[in-house]
Amino acid sequence: MSIVLSEKESLFTLYTKTSMYQMKVDDYGVLLHTYYGKKTENFDYSYLIQRRDHGFSGNPYQAGNDRTYSLDTLPQEYSCFGSGDYRQSALSVKYQTGAMALELRYKDYEIQKGKYKIPGLPALYAMEENQADTLVITMKDDVEDVCVKLYYGVLEDLDVITRTVCVENRGSAPVFLERAMSLCLDRSYGSYDWITFYGKHEMERQLSRTSVHHGCQTVGSLRGASSHQYNPFVILADTGASETQGECYGFSLLYSGNFLAEAEMDQFNQTRVIMGIHPENFSYKLEPGESFWTPEAAMVYSDAGFEKMSHIYHRAIRSNLCRGRFKHARRPVLMNNWEGTYFDFTGEKLLDMAEKAADLGIELFVMDDGWFGKRDTDSSGLGDWHVNEKKLGCTLTELSDKIHEMGMKFGIWYEPEGISEDSGLYREHPDWVLHVPGRRPMRGRYQLVLDFSREDVRNYIFDQMCKVLDHVKVDYLKWDFNRSISDVYSSRLPAERQGEVPHRYVLGLYEFLERLGRRYPDMLIEGCSGGGGRFDAGMLYYTPQIWCSDDTDAIERLEIQYGTSFCYPVSTMGAHVSACPNHQTGRTTPLKTRAVVAMAGTFGYELDPGKLSEEEKEEVRKQITAFKKYYELIQEGDYFRLTDPARDEHYAAWEFADQEGKEALLSVVASKVRTNDPPSRVLLRGLREDAVYEMNGKEYLGGALMHGGFPLPEASEEYQSWMFHFQIKEK
Ligand code: GLA
Repeated sequence: MSIVLSEKESLFTLYTKTSMYQMKVDDYGVLLHTYYGKKTENFDYSYLIQRRDHGFSGNPYQAGNDRTYSLDTLPQEYSCFGSGDYRQSALSVKYQTGAMALELRYKDYEIQKGKYKIPGLPALYAMEENQADTLVITMKDDVEDVCVKLYYGVLEDLDVITRTVCVENRGSAPVFLERAMSLCLDRSYGSYDWITFYGKHEMERQLSRTSVHHGCQTVGSLRGASSHQYNPFVILADTGASETQGECYGFSLLYSGNFLAEAEMDQFNQTRVIMGIHPENFSYKLEPGESFWTPEAAMVYSDAGFEKMSHIYHRAIRSNLCRGRFKHARRPVLMNNWEGTYFDFTGEKLLDMAEKAADLGIELFVMDDGWFGKRDTDSSGLGDWHVNEKKLGCTLTELSDKIHEMGMKFGIWYEPEGISEDSGLYREHPDWVLHVPGRRPMRGRYQLVLDFSREDVRNYIFDQMCKVLDHVKVDYLKWDFNRSISDVYSSRLPAERQGEVPHRYVLGLYEFLERLGRRYPDMLIEGCSGGGGRFDAGMLYYTPQIWCSDDTDAIERLEIQYGTSFCYPVSTMGAHVSACPNHQTGRTTPLKTRAVVAMAGTFGYELDPGKLSEEEKEEVRKQITAFKKYYELIQEGDYFRLTDPARDEHYAAWEFADQEGKEALLSVVASKVRTNDPPSRVLLRGLREDAVYEMNGKEYLGGALMHGGFPLPEASEEYQSWMFHFQIKEK
């Protein structure tokens, strides 16, 4: 049983395969957090809570004259503003009077079979009912009729615990949520590192590791999307934790909008982590009888470093978050025309590229931006989702049919949330964009943003898309979003509800994606936001892969994909081989290296195949064959970060191994070559200690490869790369 309740002690203990999580209701009905860590026998961990009389940490009235009882110091399961806890709170509620106190006390609990669902929001799901259990703890304020339900989804075998919170207004007057976080986790002891993933357009998800120190360390987004700048995934780790050792806790927010993740070290060196919707520009009005659900947060504990944590996330995302036909089905090797042509193409040019692509073994040809409305640059046309037959020189059906006749699938690009001022749609409905009354909205990439919190706006765009997608065979759709949101104001909502717009926008986006996925279940949807500006677990519920970055330089991609891999599996990372010199950095890397790096992703090409030499074409054919051969291992196997490409100067190395350790694929890139370099080796992982593996006619003991290592070849040129396939030798 993954949820154990000791009624007498009012103790709730959640078990996953290797972790344990515990809460306890104390004498005053406060829900205290008592333990999260390595699985042990069930035991009441509240013995660890020490109470002392601390000056300036006040005491609730209920505690009488006990000056040792203070919510300012106790580890709380879900802390509220106005309860005497001066640390960052998880929930803050304002009443009609303007008062903001909330003291939650335990009321009851319920255990449900299976995993809870959240209306309108993404969540990990159970494949079958017995894969998960749900615990619902109901808390209530004794004065106001505000009820808070804490949901815990326990996916025991997956080793994941999820959380969400539902706030209900059971009173007779409206209340306003000023802050409603998805999780709060208090650690009374320990020194930690705070690991976050920062970045920018064309360099997303770079790892940052700092020690948690007094005060608040925060990352978040106010850009309306989860953003290139910070990712809604963070790690709290023991200061000594490494890839394979030490304790760490991962927190992934399944949300694609404004978010906040914060670690606070308080006056007594206790650490609190909170995560959820960013409270800035957030306020949600709950009428009597209404409720509000926070996005889900998925927590993973590892007693063996980051690698174990990543493997848990990877498996959970692949099998219990991604959905649809392409969850496990082999995704086609694609060619996208963007870097090959940008806006400068005709139907004839595309067909010529497609023909050459088909000859190389490409399985899906994608027509990127520029096929609709008046769209020869990025300054016009967005919003006019009708085919520009003049530019194509044919109908879309003709283009799609011809590509299918070549034996390939066909895909197209959309940016449904975007609108250009120079478009028919804007001229007709200028009021459909997010804009603050009396002000001109900010432009980003020349464009504005449609108010996706409005159902009528979404319905119009949806209908426009259906007019194309219902009639043309489209097997793949790239959903892009090319700017940050600003001018957050919706003309459809009253003043007191304007703080709801960013969240309603995200709910609108999810509703649209859900509808699209249902209507076209066979269409593969790839998410994108100027590359990886909305690469989060929320989007992965709707789109099983996301374009990782607009930076296609193989060497830069080493770092981007490395950072991304801490939470997200290889099967979700859009990665393409592009032309050299690279369009972003001007760097030239061998074609082989570009493929080795792109194979640590969904794999495809983004170049003009007409510009490849015969020799290069032959190489591409071989790459595609190799990718298909190793597909299962790469996409469904475990991924091992053997080096840190930002810190290890000479080589970047990573490995895929199947979960039974029968075979492994080692990829190595000589990221910096120096004369007279010392010999290097890498230690493989995930193999069987006593098994013998064959590679290129040589035999190696699994234990030797893992503890002695594998010597890396000397590079004869910069950016050279290798792939080594180790296969277990059958006895
Ligand atoms: C974004 C995407 C690119 C490409 C362009 C088209 O930048 O990330 O891959 O689709 O838009 O305008």
